[in-house]
Amino acid sequence: MHTVVLIPGDGIGPEVAHAAQRVINSTGLDIRWVEMPAGEAAIATDGDTLPEKTLDAIRTHKVGLKGPVGTPIGKGFRSVNVTLRKKLDLYAAVRPVRNMPNVKTRYDNVDIVIFRENTEGLYSGIENEITAGVVTSMKVCTEKACERIARAAFRYAKARGRKKVTVFHKANIMKLTDGMFIRVAKKVHDEEHPTIAYEELIIDNGCMQLVKDPTRYDVLLMENLYGDLMSDLCAGLVGGLGVVPGANIGDNAAVFEAVHGTAPDIAGKNLANPLACIMSGVMMLNHMADTTGDEACRAAAAKIKHAYDAVLTEGTTLTRDLGGTAGGKEFTDAMVREIQKS
Ligand code: NAI
Repeated sequence: MHTVVLIPGDGIGPEVAHAAQRVINSTGLDIRWVEMPAGEAAIATDGDTLPEKTLDAIRTHKVGLKGPVGTPIGKGFRSVNVTLRKKLDLYAAVRPVRNMPNVKTRYDNVDIVIFRENTEGLYSGIENEITAGVVTSMKVCTEKACERIARAAFRYAKARGRKKVTVFHKANIMKLTDGMFIRVAKKVHDEEHPTIAYEELIIDNGCMQLVKDPTRYDVLLMENLYGDLMSDLCAGLVGGLGVVPGANIGDNAAVFEAVHGTAPDIAGKNLANPLACIMSGVMMLNHMADTTGDEACRAAAAKIKHAYDAVLTEGTTLTRDLGGTAGGKEFTDAMVREIQKS
């Protein structure tokens, strides 16, 4: 039996996290779910946006599936996501961006995997008011963090037979920080993975090239803020935030979550597409198979993937973001029916 920490989160979080839980349970895999609070919801129950017991549960059980959590804009508490990723040292955000069956978009054959450094950069949150009207934000970049995210990207590329790693940067302006990021990435390439193609692009040009022809990209490697922005941009290439999953991976634990946020505009209305969270669950099951050697997890992941491919292809239960009229619950019901057929 496996234990997974489930963090429902805020806004649409509980809807999509519980949908993913239901879909995973319907595969028959023996999972014990430990539900833990985080986000604004946790203030009411525990008086803290990220209770220590939630972090401890992830440390103990090593794997979490998380719904999004809200962060106040321009004031209020520090981002729960940033704190969680830092405290658990989940340094690699991995976000696969692919076309989905029957989801019509401007491009076919998009198959990109974003590797985002997840622990530093401008997300260090070191901000100061120097004097009235003058504020600073410090971009922190360490060789250690650059090296481990570069290594993670190249190792992934090698393991999955990917051909190229492209580094997006702005080292023409941030000569020390982004300069270090590309220098270290190139070193990891040259010394450890010379057979994988390596490319560097200044990120403004990279954005233009990506929207002109995303099919020329394979694995993308970048620091924290760029990775955040590019994840949403790339989601737009394949049908939006409802279809892009993600993983936050460290050496001792991993937390899986969709790229999207709490979507307050549609929360509680059965309008959220749970697919991105379900796909994050598939990534989680494959990770569990890799780390525990239990192939039943991989088989459950394959069943779920087969089910969403089938439901999307059949096309009568698409959620609104994908051009259909179904609610998230009806989509989840269709997924469960499909899994039970297999
Ligand atoms: P958002 O991703 O929540 O929403 C952007 C747009 O996409 C909205 O129109 C929303 O309705 C739509 N959308 C998002 N997920 C969807 C889904 N599953 N199905 C259908 N439509 C979906 O981004 P926004 O509005 O910038 O952020 C809202 C809150 O979420 C903020 O407090 C932000 O800090 C937080 N956030 C949390 C994340 C996390 O916990 N991992 C990630 C991103 C944002």
